[in-house]
Amino acid sequence: MAELKFKKVFIFLDTDKHASPFDILSTIDVFPDAAVLKYEDVTAENAEKIVRDAMFPRGPEGAKHTKIFINGHDFKRANDILEKVKHSMFPPFELAVMIDPRGAYTTAAAAVARTLSLSVEKELGSLEKNSVIILAGTGPVGQTAARLYASEKADVIVTSRSLEKASSLATKINEECGEERVRGVEAQTAEEIGKAIERTEIILSTGAAGTNLLPLNVLKEHGRKCRIVADINAIPPLGVEGLDSNTDGKEILPYIFGIGALAIGKIKNKVEVELIKRVAEEPRGVFDYKTGYEIAKKLTLEKCEQKKVPESEPPKYWLP
Ligand SMILES: NC(=O)c1ccc[n+]([C@@H]2O[C@H](COP(=O)([O-])OP(=O)(O)OC[C@H]3O[C@@H](n4cnc5c(N)ncnc54)[C@H](OP(=O)(O)O)[C@@H]3O)[C@@H](O)[C@H]2O)c1
Repeated sequence: MAELKFKKVFIFLDTDKHASPFDILSTIDVFPDAAVLKYEDVTAENAEKIVRDAMFPRGPEGAKHTKIFINGHDFKRANDILEKVKHSMFPPFELAVMIDPRGAYTTAAAAVARTLSLSVEKELGSLEKNSVIILAGTGPVGQTAARLYASEKADVIVTSRSLEKASSLATKINEECGEERVRGVEAQTAEEIGKAIERTEIILSTGAAGTNLLPLNVLKEHGRKCRIVADINAIPPLGVEGLDSNTDGKEILPYIFGIGALAIGKIKNKVEVELIKRVAEEPRGVFDYKTGYEIAKKLTLEKCEQKKVPESEPPKYWLP
């Protein structure tokens, strides 16, 4: 009998009533010959049955070509599905799994990596011991960015309109990383936000779409230590006033360099493509925000290495 040749199959498990076409289309563009199956309104309970039924029909060899992609607006549910999927599989029928709930993991990975590469590019150093503030950092993108900054040993502040929400997130991330890296702060009014940003070198704005969090005059007046400001909200009004979405490293105020949402979005899309390729290549394993960040760092640092000034030239910028 001729040897079976397995087609790549991506199985989308989406928490939403209508699965988003975004990641499905991105996957088809990377692998036009792959088959795509989508399941909607998925919960941890029904995910187990779907995954078990996907593990066996193609045998251990076929399982290597069957991929799971977990998605959806419900961040907690998507992560509960991931846990259930991991526990449902066993050798030799393990499937490679990618998770990127509504793009939050690839977006956060791109945003953190670009702030790091800009810091290196402007000779401001790595993220270690730098102070970073994540405005409205309690959503999926903000909390993932907080985890990544904490993994880089930065001192992280997460703001929220609710002190309880910010503090409980900070406690959770500190427990996960075994260090006191993240602090929650209540900041809603311009005055509170101004006070919160006073001691931070990097500001990342991760508020809901169409929410302005940082007026330009507040940044000007209170951002004296700030060197990098980034925004991921591309829907007007933007998260940071005066920071054009296409800005990528330009000085927007003296000694403050900006990164806009569309500049981050471009990196996010590249990270997603590389992540899809990685999950397709690997026979098993989980590919999440950590893998996304590895990829984003490689992409952005490689690019900034090419732009770096020769060592003989003095640094162009200094900390006043
Ligand atoms: N560029 C890309 O490729 C890409 C991909 C995905 C997402 N995004 C963007 O990334 C941003 C964050 O996404 P997400 O899903 O993490 O956001 P989200 O959960 O919708 O919102 C993030 C946080 O914003 C705060 N917030 C909500 N409404 C607010 C209001 N009226 N005033 C002040 N704060 C408010 C909330 O924090 P508190 O309740 O704690 O105050 C919330 O936790 C969005 O702008 C989204 O469009 C971009």
